[in-house]
Amino acid sequence: MNFTVVGPGAIGSLWASYLKDAGHHISLWSRQTANQIVIKRDHCLANTFTNNDPSSVMNADVILVTLKAPIVEQVLTQMKSYINSDAIIVLMHNGMGTAEAIKTHLPDNPLLLATTTHGAYRPSSDLVSHTGRGKTLLGAANQKGQQCEFLVEVLNHALADVAWHHNIDQALWNKLAINCAINPLTAIHQIRNGELAQPQYHAQLTAIVSEVCAVINAQGFKAEENNLRQIIDEVILATSQNFSSMEQDIAHQRPSEIDFITGYVVKCAHQHNIAVPANQALYNAVKQIEQRW
Ligand SMILES: NC(=O)c1ccc[n+]([C@@H]2O[C@H](COP(=O)([O-])OP(=O)(O)OC[C@H]3O[C@@H](n4cnc5c(N)ncnc54)[C@H](OP(=O)(O)O)[C@@H]3O)[C@@H](O)[C@H]2O)c1
Repeated sequence: MNFTVVGPGAIGSLWASYLKDAGHHISLWSRQTANQIVIKRDHCLANTFTNNDPSSVMNADVILVTLKAPIVEQVLTQMKSYINSDAIIVLMHNGMGTAEAIKTHLPDNPLLLATTTHGAYRPSSDLVSHTGRGKTLLGAANQKGQQCEFLVEVLNHALADVAWHHNIDQALWNKLAINCAINPLTAIHQIRNGELAQPQYHAQLTAIVSEVCAVINAQGFKAEENNLRQIIDEVILATSQNFSSMEQDIAHQRPSEIDFITGYVVKCAHQHNIAVPANQALYNAVKQIEQRW
């Protein structure tokens, strides 16, 4: 198949590399001006990809978008005239809230949402390291997307495990809840995930989880406070040595995904008239840090 990977950072380079090794035709769409980009994954042979080539985008069967959430709408709007209306668009990023805008800009395309727990690290623009194997969930965000379950087999062949989720929004909310608990706190305090197991964060985590649960339920999805809290504690333990992506964004003075993580919860909470003071305070604190730069 013909794929265009939009935003070949850590996750995008990982998928581009695995998909190419699986025999697909891959082009990239990036901020780099070169018309060819070389990517070497771990100890594999380096691959060369065409970059920013409109005709490759026009021929793409799948547009795999691995940009960070805040930039998705802007970049897809810029590329819109090149995207064939049959092309399947897959949004693969942390956070929620981009699909609504993409449905408006590209109403005829099948739209899929994906969430992955693979870990990738890009030490330089031509290297990508697969730091942890994980699972990718894929699901439909519109009617046409529901015809695209076959893509699971294609992606799974390149980089397992991939599974179809009939209610992808539920999966995204589950992931969002974990991100809401871990990301802003680790970013504000510039700490590893494991530090959140300390007693001083206990009450704050409980408040965050309780508010997020109320919002998830109001949105019509399932979430149970004790169960969610237990999952979050397990993630904190399992990733205790890791720095969250938001911690890293703040450490490197890059715009974080806060608007699409905690910000999305706050936005939905307002629509349902639910008070979310713990999440609102974290949102404000991260925004305040970002505004200092
Ligand atoms: N990395 C992981 O292990 C991991 C795991 C699970 C989920 N995620 C999620 O996956 C998403 C991507 O994360 P990532 O770690 O791959 O981030 P990343 O390395 O920063 O990749 C984002 C890419 O988008 C590019 N980009 C920015 N503006 C662009 C533009 N205007 N046009 C084209 N490309 C543009 C960036 O270019 P530059 O290289 O020029 O900055 C970068 O290559 C995030 O939502 C993240 O939370 C990541």
